[in-house]
Amino acid sequence: MNTSTLIVLDSIRRFSRCLFAVCLSLILADCGGDSADETVLIKFPHVTAPATPKGQAATRFKQLVDERLAGRVEVEVYPSSQLMNDDDSLDALAFGEIQMIAVSLSKLDRLTHKFQVFDLPFLFRDLQAVDRFQASAAGKSLLHSISDKGLLGLAFWHNGMKQFGGPVPMRTPAAARNLKFRIMESDVLREQILQIGGNPQKMAFGEVYQALQTGAVDAQENTWSNIYSSKFYEVQEFLTETNHGYLGYLVTVNTDFWNSLPEDIRRDLESIIAEVTTWANEQSVAINNEGREKIAASGTSEIVTLTDAELAVWQTTMRPVWQKFEGDIGAELIRAAQNSAVQ
Ligand code: LMR
Repeated sequence: MNTSTLIVLDSIRRFSRCLFAVCLSLILADCGGDSADETVLIKFPHVTAPATPKGQAATRFKQLVDERLAGRVEVEVYPSSQLMNDDDSLDALAFGEIQMIAVSLSKLDRLTHKFQVFDLPFLFRDLQAVDRFQASAAGKSLLHSISDKGLLGLAFWHNGMKQFGGPVPMRTPAAARNLKFRIMESDVLREQILQIGGNPQKMAFGEVYQALQTGAVDAQENTWSNIYSSKFYEVQEFLTETNHGYLGYLVTVNTDFWNSLPEDIRRDLESIIAEVTTWANEQSVAINNEGREKIAASGTSEIVTLTDAELAVWQTTMRPVWQKFEGDIGAELIRAAQNSAVQ
């Protein structure tokens, strides 16, 4: 090869490298999607009705974003499983198809065993105990416990305490024997139902009403607000007030999406989330009480209240669940939750 051919080849190589670098930077700039004049879209699907604690919190989040970040951030809330169920939303968030979720902590079981602590029966007496735990160092560390999956917890939102519904009053666990119970996608909840002699069936929230109506399942556990807003009480003769477990949510984003946001927008969103969390968690008890009152007033199903002695039998029967999951959850985390519970 003569000298002039070598020079031409070298020029072509340099030009190609240069062209490649320009293309790459254009592609990266496009993927980042964080140029100052682009509106950030936050798609936020969830499964409950707009009038529930989560539904209200999501709506409030959208309202505050509309007020304070108009033109810069747009929030689209899709309630009542309109867009997808919770399981699918975890995948969609990981793939960046949606930007925010607030799935119940029980359903994060497939990502980490840590959140199973919230499913341990009779661990938290009420929402104040949950508040203390979530505000503790151990509780706050849970916000980062799915970072290895590319997901970040921003806040905990409450729904409330769970009750049992079924074809019979459940004054004792013996009444639950052989009933088919719909449960959320959690192995702790599965074990809890096995301990009382029931038959647990994991099922998406959007399918529960029909499953109860057709007899595919006999019984279920949920909060007053969910039982009321999703009309489970219409297809359950008895609702037994056990307050045996907590139902709450992790407000979660995709870490890459969150870090790609311009810093000022991210700061504003964080402060809106903090404000919404305080507001929503303060009213979750009232929303659940209202659901309970409306169910009682409907006369459609009977609310069964238990004596302390009856509740004690429930607690003793379900307690072995704690030991079974201590290894997965970690004894220290359970102790931290217990300490918050008794303060
Ligand atoms: C359920 O599936 O029962 C709950 O997770 C629904 C919800 O989001 O409150």
